[in-house]
Amino acid sequence: MEHDFTTLPDRRGTGSSKWEAMLADNPDVADDVIPLSVADMEFLTPTPIKAALHRLIDATALGYTDPTDGFYDACISWQERRHGWKPEKEWVVTSPGVVPALYTAVRACTNPGDGIIIQPPVYYPFSTAIEKTGRMLVENPLVCDGTSWRMDFEGLETLAHDARTKAIIVCSPHNPVGRVWTEEELARLIAICSDAGIYLLCDEIHNDLIMPGHMHRTLLSLASTDQARHIIVFTSCSKTFSLAGTQGSVAYIPGDGLRSAYKAAYEAQGLFQLNAFAYPALIAAYNECEGWLDELIGILMRNYTLLEDRLDGRLGGLSVHPLEGTYLAWVDFSAWGMDCRLRERLLRTHAQLYLDSGALFGTGGASFERFNIACPTWALEAALARLEGAYGTDAFEEARKGRNGS
Ligand SMILES: Cc1ncc(COP(=O)(O)O)c(C=O)c1O
Repeated sequence: MEHDFTTLPDRRGTGSSKWEAMLADNPDVADDVIPLSVADMEFLTPTPIKAALHRLIDATALGYTDPTDGFYDACISWQERRHGWKPEKEWVVTSPGVVPALYTAVRACTNPGDGIIIQPPVYYPFSTAIEKTGRMLVENPLVCDGTSWRMDFEGLETLAHDARTKAIIVCSPHNPVGRVWTEEELARLIAICSDAGIYLLCDEIHNDLIMPGHMHRTLLSLASTDQARHIIVFTSCSKTFSLAGTQGSVAYIPGDGLRSAYKAAYEAQGLFQLNAFAYPALIAAYNECEGWLDELIGILMRNYTLLEDRLDGRLGGLSVHPLEGTYLAWVDFSAWGMDCRLRERLLRTHAQLYLDSGALFGTGGASFERFNIACPTWALEAALARLEGAYGTDAFEEARKGRNGS
């Protein structure tokens, strides 16, 4: 192993959102417990990124900073090398995160009261972005056949043609169900949205986290020039290299009119440059950390296999759904037949297992738990051992059957 994927970063006391949430729930949680919830990684930051940030601090002042040619080149060549398409430089638009970019896009493409489609269960800030900006949430839930999730294209067609619908927000690859949509699925999605004349806002933040045997296609590589005028693709190096705290993301917006509207909406929210650390972090990640990413994918696959071996069909009939992309494994707990809040409490109290409850992701999610497997294998192993150790004990079974609320 060339890179270090076994040392746990020390995040206690750093204000890490994931760790603080666990510690707020249980300040006495055992020292060796790590949370498997919020989607950032429990791996050390790759060395070239640390070096680039040190260089910034040592060599210059931390003033207002705009993207350099080096920044644009890094974005474009990454898309070319890893994703097989070449964006134009002027399509590249920065934002302090994909979520702020989604809020901006919603404001740019729609008016208050307009309908925007989402396909739950899905990353919950999609619905928040729609509701908090006074738009109307329209749901076209994913369909689950056994353990395989698909889009309901017939439902989508009907909703997209409703005169009140103006846009859709899509997650590709899909958090939390772990699908990497195929070229055929994406082409059909584009065709439906284009025929209906609605905007397609595509969150591709997990685009680099693709498991062996699957291929991610960016929507913009499949759209005609005409169709691309109504599409925005959102990316970031934050999931791939665990840089969420540097708060930088990149949207690709080929349509001149849409790009101008987007930039106007961005500035109207009082947003301008990124923080100075976001740029060198991205440049170092994209230019120098490809080998780290390749090795990471192997670790994630190993962790997923471990999870599958230990949970699938076991512990009362859990079902681990296939992981095609992302580092977020989607596990069906419906065999336990429990209310999701009780289940969360049970897992926390008896197994010190801190997951994201599937209920967070909306329609279709309540019987699931999402496991963040981006952590050293030994840490995942320990978490699974805690669950196995708790399962079947009298205290656990009492609580599971609802006879004891703890
Ligand atoms: C699908 C998806 N989009 C966006 C984000 C967050 O993006 P950002 O931190 O750049 O706002 C996440 C984080 O988990 C995510 O899973």
